Amino acid sequence: MFKVNALPDAPFGAEVVGLDLKDQMDDATRDAINDAFLKHIALVFRDQDLTAEQYRDGVSNFGEPMKQHNERFQLPGIPVVSRIINREKMRPASMWHTDHTNHERPPKATVLYARKLPSKGGDTCLANMYDGLEKLDDASRATIDGMQTVNHMEADNPVYSDKDRAKYDQGVTQPMVRTHPETGRKALYFHITKARGIVGMDTDKVRPFLENLLEQAVRPENSLRHKWRSGDVLLFDNRCTMHRADPEYDMSEERLLWRIILRGDRPA
Ligand SMILES: [Fe+2]
Repeated sequence: MFKVNALPDAPFGAEVVGLDLKDQMDDATRDAINDAFLKHIALVFRDQDLTAEQYRDGVSNFGEPMKQHNERFQLPGIPVVSRIINREKMRPASMWHTDHTNHERPPKATVLYARKLPSKGGDTCLANMYDGLEKLDDASRATIDGMQTVNHMEADNPVYSDKDRAKYDQGVTQPMVRTHPETGRKALYFHITKARGIVGMDTDKVRPFLENLLEQAVRPENSLRHKWRSGDVLLFDNRCTMHRADPEYDMSEERLLWRIILRGDRPA
């Protein structure tokens, strides 16, 4: 029988031990994991030893994997599994963000599976944006109500192909405050490098505005640092968290994660 243990010394998150993602999952287990996911926001499945197919199939218990907009990093034959790597011109996503906001239906969750880790560092950081919203001062909170970001692929990112851009760079609006469709709670929601615009705001004011929001919203008391262990599969809720990769490690060492994203609703 598996166990769900709240992470020690962290404001949210839990580890799941004794559950092998390549085993057939019954309804009761699936429901228990989904309940734990909504309660803890992030889950770490320890000690996994999975092929890409087993990873995809195991994670499919929690949602529908969707295609990612970075075609050249998709695994051959298993395109819903994408490589996150510190090679091939891929830059670490070192700023706080939530994934794929340039899609009308961005992923409800992101899943990362450690494949190659640097000997030290390369952590993934997460912040709770239910709490982040509450941390905003009154003026900021009032300003962002009803505000919408306009989301594109980063113009200067060399890893996107022309085909990716033709498909996924149309400019999608997203609410800055969204209501989680399953918990009913409100959370702060934006991707700082994909939000090229905010409806009704001069373009040059957008970035400093968003940086100011992050400064208020991300605090030690609502964030955690996931120090990867070999075999970790990390699942987190994109509707109420932001995340970033810590780039402060020896880049001569390879870091490779396999990423799956799970289809979400239209944010509202
Ligand atoms: Fe990300």
